[in-house]
Amino acid sequence: MSGDCILGNNIIDVFEKYRVIPVVVIEDADFALGLADALLEGGLPVAEITFRTKAAGQTISILNDKRPELTLGAGTVLTLDNLKAAKDCGAKFAVAPGLNPNIVSKAQELKLDFYPGIATPTDIEQALVLGCKILKFFPAEACGGVKFLKAISGPYKHTGIKFIPTGGINADNLAGYLQLPSVPACGGSWIAKKDEISNKNWSQISEKCRAIADIIKRISS
Ligand code: 3PG
Repeated sequence: MSGDCILGNNIIDVFEKYRVIPVVVIEDADFALGLADALLEGGLPVAEITFRTKAAGQTISILNDKRPELTLGAGTVLTLDNLKAAKDCGAKFAVAPGLNPNIVSKAQELKLDFYPGIATPTDIEQALVLGCKILKFFPAEACGGVKFLKAISGPYKHTGIKFIPTGGINADNLAGYLQLPSVPACGGSWIAKKDEISNKNWSQISEKCRAIADIIKRISS
């Protein structure tokens, strides 16, 4: 299997710059612009739009057209159809909660930056064989969180593998993850919750983005 399932430099640069990827469930593409502007206002112009709703692809298409300054990826890519839809709507990256070799291989063929989910050393080794060096660690908190990532750095650090922990992460535990050298960024749904989006609580979302910037500033100083 080829070794080209590595996130493109542009995407990894975005992750390293912003350090948090909001995981979004959007029920209606009519909320797309409001959500985009809330993220931009908060200084966090990146998001994973999960393919759990019919509105996901349309949201990415609309925002690529109207708010191109955002970097949007497709989340919850569970099937080859999801992956093709992600490519067609212009997602800049795709991500899944688990590791499906068929999807990895198709992402390589479509030249769509894809990072699969892992939760065990066996998953990590399979991902390495498939050429993936950026992995979603999911569900991070339930699987041991920072302690797990520290424990596995022994055998895997020299491979250059990086993790995007997601699942149970929030403003209280974020710093612990971001301080690990193997973590370019974390993902999480706490920034823009489903009900905040449907209730158009845009200022609340922007405020959480700003709070993230403060956390990052604190751990970088
Ligand atoms: C995901 O969709 O990747 C996770 O459900 C996000 O996990 P969280 O809701 O605990 O942030």
